[in-house]
Amino acid sequence: MESIESFIRRLPKAELHLHLEGTITPATLVELSAQSPDARPMTFTEAEALYAYSDFTGFLQAFKTVVTELRGPAEYELAAWRMLQKLAEQGVRHAEVYISVGVIFRLRPEEDQADPDIFARIFAALERARVRGERELGITLYWIFDAVRHFTIPEAERVFRLAASMRKEYPSIIGIGLGGDERQCGSAPFRALYREAAAAGLRLTNHAGETTGPEAIREALGIGSERLGHAVSAIQDETLMEELKNRRIPLELNPTSNVRTGVCPALADHPIRRYFDQGLLVVVNSDDPAFFGATVEDEYRMAHDVHGFTREELQRLAENSFRASFLPEVEKQRWLDQIDSFR
Ligand code: ADE
Ligand code: ZN
Repeated sequence: MESIESFIRRLPKAELHLHLEGTITPATLVELSAQSPDARPMTFTEAEALYAYSDFTGFLQAFKTVVTELRGPAEYELAAWRMLQKLAEQGVRHAEVYISVGVIFRLRPEEDQADPDIFARIFAALERARVRGERELGITLYWIFDAVRHFTIPEAERVFRLAASMRKEYPSIIGIGLGGDERQCGSAPFRALYREAAAAGLRLTNHAGETTGPEAIREALGIGSERLGHAVSAIQDETLMEELKNRRIPLELNPTSNVRTGVCPALADHPIRRYFDQGLLVVVNSDDPAFFGATVEDEYRMAHDVHGFTREELQRLAENSFRASFLPEVEKQRWLDQIDSFR
């Protein structure tokens, strides 16, 4: 019989919860620093040290530190290209990738003054990588502009309005999202901005119930979030579970991330199995693979090894990944048909 590794790799998969900056490995940082004329080449040990954290707050800090290493368009293009190569190696055929636009703006106020078009140039570089990925690797890619919920509302407004205006030129900008620390800020303050983004044709994702309880998930649903990241705490609320099931709300689960940031004690404790068995629309994702040490392939493998997902059930997870995507219906159906005939 075919090995489980090969089965998972061949299975067409969509990755729906992946932060571009969280895919950058220490090796890529070393490569970037060696190419940069104004930076001293970094050693691997120096690069690796940037990834150290011991809890969720420390992880968010480390994530920001890695973002500061991306200085301009060339760095972003290489980071995106390396990400696409790694996705292709795992049999990922479509990805919807968060760009931490909120962090970029917060960290670059001086460059903003000196070069107001810096973000446009960074984004054009990301687009070059995306187009190359589609042409050379056969992967389709959508971008999600992510704001940081514990920064200010005007900062989120800037991110979302930029997504709305740039989407006219770049239809690959499919939606918006909110990351950051839910313990500091929920979703209700973003209600008007989410409504405005939806009216501009953007799809709405939201990190919810990662470090907080089920009420944060209700709040995220209450502002129109179409897809939820993490949603670990939904398990604590049966009525909410029913609602998520009946409304077919896709849950972008990231089990390894949750264990590594300390929000879930162990992989075996993650609610993925219970969600799946109760009929919730769950998708497995890697979130920030360079920080958490697990790829999306590893997450499928974990579902098999730790939660006893059979090959048929892994196929259902892969189907869910396309069903929950923001692809047009015809594209979704094309992938569902392929998975249906997959052996
Ligand atoms: N930004 C990147 N990864 C994140 C996560 N897991 N939660 C919140 N914000 C994030
Ligand atoms: Zn995330």
